Amino acid sequence: MTASDSPATEDAESLRRRAVEALTSARERTGVLTGCVDDPDLTAQHSPLMSPLVWDLTHIGNQEEQWLLRTVGGREPLRPDIDSVYDAFEHPRASRTSLPLLPPDEARGYLAEVRGRVLDVLERAPLRGGPLLETGFAFGMIAQHEQQHDETMLITHQLRSGPAVLTAPAPPPAPADAALLPAEVRVPGGPFGMGTSAEPWSLDNERPAHHRFVPSYFIDTVPVSNAAYQDFIEDGGYHEPRWWAPDGWAQIREHDVRAPLFWRRDEGGRRWLRRRFGLLEPVPPQEPVLHVSWYEADAYARWAGRRLPTEAEWEKAARHDPASDRSRRYPWGDEDPTPAHANLGQRHLQPAPVGSYPEGASPLGVRQLMGDVWEWTASDFLPYPGFAAFPYREYSEVFFGDAHKVLRGGSFAVGQVACRGTFRNWDLPVRRQIFSGFRTARDASPDSSYSPEAF
Ligand code: AVJ
Ligand code: FE
Repeated sequence: MTASDSPATEDAESLRRRAVEALTSARERTGVLTGCVDDPDLTAQHSPLMSPLVWDLTHIGNQEEQWLLRTVGGREPLRPDIDSVYDAFEHPRASRTSLPLLPPDEARGYLAEVRGRVLDVLERAPLRGGPLLETGFAFGMIAQHEQQHDETMLITHQLRSGPAVLTAPAPPPAPADAALLPAEVRVPGGPFGMGTSAEPWSLDNERPAHHRFVPSYFIDTVPVSNAAYQDFIEDGGYHEPRWWAPDGWAQIREHDVRAPLFWRRDEGGRRWLRRRFGLLEPVPPQEPVLHVSWYEADAYARWAGRRLPTEAEWEKAARHDPASDRSRRYPWGDEDPTPAHANLGQRHLQPAPVGSYPEGASPLGVRQLMGDVWEWTASDFLPYPGFAAFPYREYSEVFFGDAHKVLRGGSFAVGQVACRGTFRNWDLPVRRQIFSGFRTARDASPDSSYSPEAF
């Protein structure tokens, strides 16, 4: 077994092109998300859970200035006076409208100014000599940061009330063979290579690569659908304490939670409707369930006689190729995602029906591990053995512990550069405004069912 992935080494020109591409596509999306609303809307607090959009906008530019202009480029600071306003640790989200924020026009000017200089730095930077420069890491990190805030801003759009301002050109493609798929797939027990030491733009919490022994288990072929989740609701799942972790039960009783966030019953009380970016529509039965907390995912799994997969189980299903005994970058192999592999990048403003993207399937046939919905796992967000914070403690290290649960895979809202088989997201178990869903798993006794090793 090999634990280390080994992407081809790229020359500086190709790395530069890749960095420009990633930065440019993130900026395009940032432009759409902040260009489709007027100034009062940009500066408004749409939810106490989120920043005003104009804070995210300037924070994107300020992080880019700090890392790429000042640290990598060695340039004089442009706007050191605003650093503290856009420091996420200094001001809680709900308080950010009362800060002296740059007005939208100034914010746009600042971002453009920073970006112009960054492209100049990138052209001259040697892309070697130190971990920030090596393979253009700092540029990749900042492109991922902007893509992550593009997802954050899309969450703000979903929480915003009022008529729709965002539209997607076409709904995701419907799968041809979904009805024929097995409900679950058996993953044989054994070690596999988890995490990465070689992926050039992987973030600190994904490193280093290490071996994990994972006993055999079954995992759902596709994420849990709205139809399946409705069975849990109709069966009284939200009123049965035995399905719920104690904290989850307390939380749903306190807030009278009875369905995923943004769901409501229609007038007759028979059908479920959902609000999605300003539109009210019937809940599509075949889509992965979206906007559920970890507690809801955990309760559903218990009701179904199953459990959430651990983070290692999720990653083994997504990356391990039994034929070569190697961990790959993505379920489908080592090639970067294309629109045929996964629903990413806000190309569609909703998940694709369960069973979609046959070309994105893993070697064992597990589908939709990348894109569509972030998948809650059973695991707390903890460092891998040998973890070293890089380049700043506040990206991952300060969040390690039992307060946050790990989500894997990426949603329809995340950019391609911030999504890979090793990528780790995390959030509080009560969170449900994020683009979260899940799939379930169960133990497999080593000799039960069909096992390739037995033959
Ligand atoms: C990795 C999505 C949890 O949004 O809090 C953005 C990403 N870190 N700016 C977050 C992040 C700093 C982070 N998550
Ligand atoms: Fe940030």
